[in-house]
Amino acid sequence: MGYESAWLSYKENHTLKIPWNGSKIYADTWGKTIEAAVTELQRAVKEICGMDMGITGQEEEAGILLKKEQDNALGEEGYKIQCRDGRLTVTSQGEKGLLYGSFACIRMLQTKEEFSAEEKTEKPSAPLRMLNHWDNMDGSIERGYSGNSFFFEDNKILVNERTRDYARLAASVGINGVVINNVNVKDRATWLIDEVYQKELQRMSEIFETYGIQLFLSLNFAAPMELGNLDSADPCKEAVQQWWNDKMQELYTRLPNLGGFLVKADSEGRPGPFTYGRTHADGANMLADAVAPYHGKIIWRCFVYNCQQDWRDRKTDRARSGYDNFRPLDGQFRENVILQVKNGPMDFQVREPVSPLFGGMEKTNEMLEVQIAQEYTGQQRHVCYLIPMFQEVLKFRTYCQEDRDTVEDIVTGKTMGNTNCGIAAVINTGNDENWTGHDLAAANFFGFGRLCFNTSLSAEEIAKEWIVCTFGHDREVQEKILQMLMMSWKTYEKYTSPLGIGWMVNPNYHYGPNVDGYEYDRWGTYHRADHLGMGVCRGKKGTGYAQQYREPNASMYENVQTCPEELLLFFHYVPYTYQLKTGKTMIQHIYDTHFEGAEEAAYMADLWDSLEGKIETKVFERVQKRLAHQKEHAKEWRDQINSYFYRKSMIPDEKHRTIY
Ligand code: GCU
Repeated sequence: MGYESAWLSYKENHTLKIPWNGSKIYADTWGKTIEAAVTELQRAVKEICGMDMGITGQEEEAGILLKKEQDNALGEEGYKIQCRDGRLTVTSQGEKGLLYGSFACIRMLQTKEEFSAEEKTEKPSAPLRMLNHWDNMDGSIERGYSGNSFFFEDNKILVNERTRDYARLAASVGINGVVINNVNVKDRATWLIDEVYQKELQRMSEIFETYGIQLFLSLNFAAPMELGNLDSADPCKEAVQQWWNDKMQELYTRLPNLGGFLVKADSEGRPGPFTYGRTHADGANMLADAVAPYHGKIIWRCFVYNCQQDWRDRKTDRARSGYDNFRPLDGQFRENVILQVKNGPMDFQVREPVSPLFGGMEKTNEMLEVQIAQEYTGQQRHVCYLIPMFQEVLKFRTYCQEDRDTVEDIVTGKTMGNTNCGIAAVINTGNDENWTGHDLAAANFFGFGRLCFNTSLSAEEIAKEWIVCTFGHDREVQEKILQMLMMSWKTYEKYTSPLGIGWMVNPNYHYGPNVDGYEYDRWGTYHRADHLGMGVCRGKKGTGYAQQYREPNASMYENVQTCPEELLLFFHYVPYTYQLKTGKTMIQHIYDTHFEGAEEAAYMADLWDSLEGKIETKVFERVQKRLAHQKEHAKEWRDQINSYFYRKSMIPDEKHRTIY
């Protein structure tokens, strides 16, 4: 199937004044990553400026220079860009830095940013900048909304030009690690660590390596039983440890660049150390010891909760479980173990508080996990630009120490001075022509990478870059798409579940309104609405979840007056007549936001319609269709939510709008 180039579609711009003299590129060292950087520069300059760039071995005759230079402050991934006396020079200590610097120059050409005689220095904020694919070996994608996998088909691994083009996209925004298979490792995927798949993995890993990306795999904790015929996977049994040691030795001999493994254990039915009465530290450390000789990492997920909670039990709380399970193990994990924590304590809702595991662990490496596959945020049929949300998460102060205590500080290594930390996103790609189903969803892929590389960029700056790289320089196009992206998350929040309560979606596939869908399900996520009010009491008198935070956060959430209102119902049960800071009652707020949200969805569709003729027809129509759906679907959300709460509360809308 053919596919497009997303933000790497280098658009012709002959008006651009080329800031370097001559048409030659010089590199003072060669390796496959530098080769890739040079090829990319050649391609971009040709497509954007119409100029053929040759290669020279003579530094004096070059217009673009890639130079390796000892500079510990920059490290292997940082770079400097300088344009002086007709020469554009990129310097770095490592090949990866030169690749990132080259992509940065290309982006400057795309966005017409001026090259300066002053050195521009950049170094990635997060050490690990990872994408997690939830791709299954049969080619399907768990929570995939843009076609099938481009890594797997019929239990085979695909390695082809698309693998390279994917790596180019990822590298262009600074991604340096990719997990190719679903965290739920079952059936054939368990065999990915077996010899049968090594050849293809080797080829894939080499392509990735060229683009500075380490290949990671998700693994099955029960593999010693399923592959090795052992009768147990007990991490404290010598035979099990030995099995893993042997397996890793075999694997790393063939795949020396393998970054390590992502593990979902004792979570939603997946096997793990609990079966043997062992802890997550026992499980993670066993694997960590097996990969340590090869500098491998074990990324251990904290998405562990009881998914069979009894509805009568008002003390058990899914939100508590990550902290309850992992906090007691702080300090027990090996140095090459990283705990991967979802941004919120539940599951990627449109609004959640930050997980108290950030700041709750003082001696443990942590990665932040976000989801740009829009499982709960419109499944890539609705526009939802998520970078503003991720920024809020990163800025959250945990108070784990006096300063350098934000989530950003923790995952960029500033809090603990560690390098085994970073940010991972459950990625939104598939084999659709445009990679992400919704064309505007590509802004999340691009934006995620850019944000991890430079956490000080604003969501708006990132959006602007993406728009220009993708759609070119038309002013109106830029302004309108920017407006759509920047309003989209809040708009989505307005017409879906209110005030941080979350869920209210159809169980299982998580699309479309269903207020009681999860209320009467076994998964243990409740809104507790009755005829008087709604919300979950998570303070001391309720589940006690608020107390998992450090002060002053714990008190802030505990107290209904100081609890941020966007999270009011997450932390408190309040009556429908409760007065918000705006002066509105809670029920009126629900009505108003739902009417507003649906109107805003219609407004976004109008904005897009007004760009007809300015955007390539195929793309225009693709997006138009989705926006038309979003507009209708937002009305459905509005009506279901409003009618439900009107009938529960019997309090009419002050503005007398139609509520059924
Ligand atoms: C969610 C999602 C699952 C996924 C799980 C996870 O529950 O719906 O499909 O497996 O998260 O993160 O492991």
